[in-house]
Amino acid sequence: MAKSLLDSVMTICLRRGILFPTAEVYGGLAGFYDFGPVGTRLRNNLIRLWRQHFIESQDFVYEMSGTTLLPAPVFKASGHLDHFTDPSAECPRGHITRIDQLIEEKLKIQAEGKSNTELSEIVRKGKLRCPVCGDFLGDVKSFGLMFGTSVGGERRQAFLRPETAQNIFLAFKRIQTATRSKLPLGVAQIGKSYRNEISPRQSVVRVREFGQMEIEYFINPDNLNECPLFSDLKNVQLPIVTQKVQQEAAEKESTEYSTKLVTVEEAFNKGIVPNQWMACILGNEMKFIPQLGIPKEVIRFRHMRPEETPHYSGGNFDLEIKLSIGWKEVIGNAYRRDHDLQAHMKESQKDLSIDIEGTKVIPHVIEPSFGIERLLYCILEHTYRPKDESRGWTWFQFPLHLAPYEAVFLPLLQRPELEEIARQLYEKSRLLNLSVLYDERGRIGRRYARADEIGIPFAVTIDPQTLEDNTATLRSRDTAEQIRHQLEDIPSLLQERKQRKGF
Ligand code: GAP
Repeated sequence: MAKSLLDSVMTICLRRGILFPTAEVYGGLAGFYDFGPVGTRLRNNLIRLWRQHFIESQDFVYEMSGTTLLPAPVFKASGHLDHFTDPSAECPRGHITRIDQLIEEKLKIQAEGKSNTELSEIVRKGKLRCPVCGDFLGDVKSFGLMFGTSVGGERRQAFLRPETAQNIFLAFKRIQTATRSKLPLGVAQIGKSYRNEISPRQSVVRVREFGQMEIEYFINPDNLNECPLFSDLKNVQLPIVTQKVQQEAAEKESTEYSTKLVTVEEAFNKGIVPNQWMACILGNEMKFIPQLGIPKEVIRFRHMRPEETPHYSGGNFDLEIKLSIGWKEVIGNAYRRDHDLQAHMKESQKDLSIDIEGTKVIPHVIEPSFGIERLLYCILEHTYRPKDESRGWTWFQFPLHLAPYEAVFLPLLQRPELEEIARQLYEKSRLLNLSVLYDERGRIGRRYARADEIGIPFAVTIDPQTLEDNTATLRSRDTAEQIRHQLEDIPSLLQERKQRKGF
């Protein structure tokens, strides 16, 4: 049987130590992955680019860094303790299965928003069995997704956060005061979140510990149609899947959706999105994602159906990316109104409103929420290149600004004089703050293959001709073309390319 794309991508990831199961030597722990040196560089580069694009380019956005463990009342107020569950059913042998996913996969029926009784009925009528052992499935129950613990001698109940957002709501008032900000104010956080998923799967697409990059934009409710980013973003094209399209597809028992291409300005003017801010947030994402090597054609914004969104939502739009395993939500964009601040005010009895010209205002919030590992997986799939006649190995075509290293230095032969020059050039490049590798082991073809496999854009080869004319070849990963350059020009050439690699 042909290998799936996910398996092909994971084969390189394991071989090159990009990412791999946590505690592998003990058989792993389902839903947990570690990143090796190359994966960590990729992940850090993705975070750097996100920070540049969404935080540093906007003077009203600040970054915070909160703890991952928070006291129980936080999640009482946020609703996670009571409602953050997935429907599941157990078979007599004790295997627990996530039922909404099973129904959608096997019966192609939308399960979101259905009660446990309705889901039990679908399981029974659809004759669904335990996917692990084939035994029958019991009644559908709600399975809590929070990881809980108790803290200190007083054993205070606490939970690992399932999203980074809650720290931001809790810190909002302090940050607003400390930065002397008016509205709009954006507070961003990059960090780990934890969900005790019933069926973690598909590599890092669904895991139990993952990174999120979230921003809460706090906006004066009177100014939801005055986004400072509008003039820059109004012409960006948005591929939207409307609720109507989904409704019509559901009537035909289909999950194939057509997209409507509109500009940010049209999306706002025609009321496709709830306000100008939401239109701009989607536009900004549409500017960012294709620069990661993900083609525009595989991106869409799906307007979530009413049964998928909480009652307080003013409109949610998921950015979805098409993968070999189907369309996956990678960014959740939610217009949360003032729900979170109101909920924490009620639970904590603290005033989180701010004073605007003598009036107490509770800001409205729009939240884009990115999953780091899921986005990284999308990048891996869309930059993966299979072997072909011209190249006998698989490789990744990472954009220059994401690639884990800028170049690798290779002496062609195991001769001390070639190795010496290659090392000197490598050290010189490091001094210029370039991320470079030195590799002298194995046949040159194998070394090019190793470099391509981890997506290094350039390889510099020192060969016997170098000793005669002080030149070396610069090989491009994308074309495999090699061009000779003077040795002294090479570090600055690489540096020039690095400087060009920002967005
Ligand atoms: N604060 C809103 C929030 O957390 P979400 O839609 O539950 O919204 C946002 O999550 C993003 O986090 C998702 O779009 C996805 O990229 C990522 N994510 C959520 N659960 C995940 C999981 N179990 N494994 C990997 N990534 C996940």
